[in-house]
Amino acid sequence: MNTPIPTGRVLSGMRPTGQLHLGNYHGALRNWVALQHTHEAFFFVADWHALTTGYEDTSQLQLHIREMVIDWLAAGIDPAVATVFVQSQVPEHAELHLLLSMVTPLGWLERVPTFKDQQAQLKDRDLATYGFLGYPLLQSADILLYRPEFVPVGEDQVAHVEITREIARRFNNLFGSEPDFAKQAEKSARLLGSPGADQYAQARRQLQQSGDTQARQVARSVVLAAGLNAEDTRRLLGYVDGLSISILPEPQVLLTPTPKVPGLDGRKMSKSYGNTIGLREDADSVARKLRTMQTDPARARRTDPGDPDKCPVWDLHRIYSDAATQQTVATGCRSAAIGCLDCKKPLIDAVVAETRLMQQRAQPFQQDPQQVTELLQAGAEKARAAARQTMAEVRAVMHLTPP
Ligand code: TRP
Ligand code: SF4
Repeated sequence: MNTPIPTGRVLSGMRPTGQLHLGNYHGALRNWVALQHTHEAFFFVADWHALTTGYEDTSQLQLHIREMVIDWLAAGIDPAVATVFVQSQVPEHAELHLLLSMVTPLGWLERVPTFKDQQAQLKDRDLATYGFLGYPLLQSADILLYRPEFVPVGEDQVAHVEITREIARRFNNLFGSEPDFAKQAEKSARLLGSPGADQYAQARRQLQQSGDTQARQVARSVVLAAGLNAEDTRRLLGYVDGLSISILPEPQVLLTPTPKVPGLDGRKMSKSYGNTIGLREDADSVARKLRTMQTDPARARRTDPGDPDKCPVWDLHRIYSDAATQQTVATGCRSAAIGCLDCKKPLIDAVVAETRLMQQRAQPFQQDPQQVTELLQAGAEKARAAARQTMAEVRAVMHLTPP
């Protein structure tokens, strides 16, 4: 087992919902674009996850995948630095999902909050399926396959990363234990030298006594910086969290800071509310939508003063406008010195500038769809190289490797 230990890797996925909107951009995608420059990034289209709720009609799947990937590229995801791929093109996801299913108690899956929530919300569909129950487990496989340090997601996905950690822990305990693990780990720790060994021991103690995640990070960085061989490294990483080798390291949530992105009706921007502005929407349509966007209901007349804090347009100003514009608009609103259309004008300009840029970036890919196909193929190859390494180790520790 002398595969390299990936460090600072991030992995995240999105279900292919078709064209993305500004809520998706500010809620997730923008963060991905930033992360690709600071981390080794893997971003994938979770097309199998789409099937868990949308299995009846799959006819639009390829279209939705393509549109979403073009949106990613439009937003600035750069396939030259990030690995971009489609889940179903990497069959190792399915294999790991199957193997993890053997060790996952049903109760863990039934207890994931999204399971009952979604079943209640999507009443028109039969979600009493094996695949839907397995949604979080498939997600765990997606994640653990790449052994990322971080999973950048929003609040709604935290429970899924949490169960991923529990499954990793269970897997490592079942298949990563070795006789005398603690003794072996102490021996490996000595290889950290001075002051590494002491720092490691201290951070590990601190983590165990107080659950201090900062300490966990310290212990892990000491190990990763030491450049030991893979066996010692995995043992020491595992020793940080428990008493087994870390074959599938526990990833951490990287909570995406999400500004409030209101839709046109003032509710959260969401495809299901039909209140969205598309990432690549044309200028006229953006302007038309924003001109009729919901404002503070107290400003029925131009002469009525308003309160930006009660206005969804203001939430967009907070994302799109500089401090000076925000200042002008807010005081103008409160004193009724400006009307809502005056207030919306600079916002429309800013949003249109953004969607125009997205359109420009998307254009070459729309003109030459083959380019998208190829970059996804190359991405899948890169992803598979990483996935194969993990699966080789997983198979080996489960005694699935023929003699
Ligand atoms: N469940 C995620 C969502 O709906 C998508 C997803 C699938 C994902 N697999 C993942 C996100 C792995 C992060 C990591 O947004
Ligand atoms: Fe909203 Fe601007 Fe109108 Fe005030 S002036 S209510 S902030 S749109």
